[in-house]
Amino acid sequence: MRRKIVAGNWKMNGSKDLVQQLVGSVRSEAESLDNGVEVVIIPPAIYVSDVVARSGNRLMVGVQNVGQWSSGAYTGEIAAGMAKDQGCSYALVGHSERRQLFGETDDEVAAKVESLVASGLTAVVCVGETLEQREAGRAEAVVASQVKAALDNVVAGQWDRIVVAYEPVWAIGTGKTATAEDAQAMHASIRQVLAEIGAPAESISLLYGGSVKADNAAALFAEPDIDGGLIGGASLKADDFVSICQAMPASTNS
Ligand code: 13P
Repeated sequence: MRRKIVAGNWKMNGSKDLVQQLVGSVRSEAESLDNGVEVVIIPPAIYVSDVVARSGNRLMVGVQNVGQWSSGAYTGEIAAGMAKDQGCSYALVGHSERRQLFGETDDEVAAKVESLVASGLTAVVCVGETLEQREAGRAEAVVASQVKAALDNVVAGQWDRIVVAYEPVWAIGTGKTATAEDAQAMHASIRQVLAEIGAPAESISLLYGGSVKADNAAALFAEPDIDGGLIGGASLKADDFVSICQAMPASTNS
């Protein structure tokens, strides 16, 4: 059965105050959810231990990025094992902001995925096309190539630690969401790519991200190949984030 996941990526937002206000109320609402959704909070790394301290056993915590090395002279980086040590169970990798603003390459993404799964964390591998690539009819090819490159080093026995998040770049922070039909079509295509590379495609959770809000989440989550969401802006308000978690249908997608 595929995991159903709603993860809030705070990006470079938040404060100790926000952790205090938001995590307790998300946690108590999450405790009353009966739709089987895994709720994940992904704050800036410096707040991870504050979030973990308030998360109880209902909320999961993640980091937004890791270095690909296990330790050493890499000033400013954190390792997958350190995130695990601090109580994280998830990590984003290859977010489009890291690819675009920090020049992260497919090879680096693959090395980070390798390091994450070896450390026992679940890697949320982010992929997505730009508007230009979509308009040129290349969206599926671009995403397929990102998926294949990112998962190049994953071996049998590690696939249960892989989640793929489809986040079209043109939908992130713009208020423009992919239609549920377009998102479903891309998710089905990603699942086919996973099968082609020998992954257990039917058991890998695929999340949609890009301007997911309380009022569009239910339509997205109703699609058969959309197993959850990766939420940016709307994860910074407890009510909005909880409404998105509640929008997950109780029936399984698999
Ligand atoms: P928004 O929900 O703010 O569009 O951000 C999506 C995202 O990038 C999550 O990783």
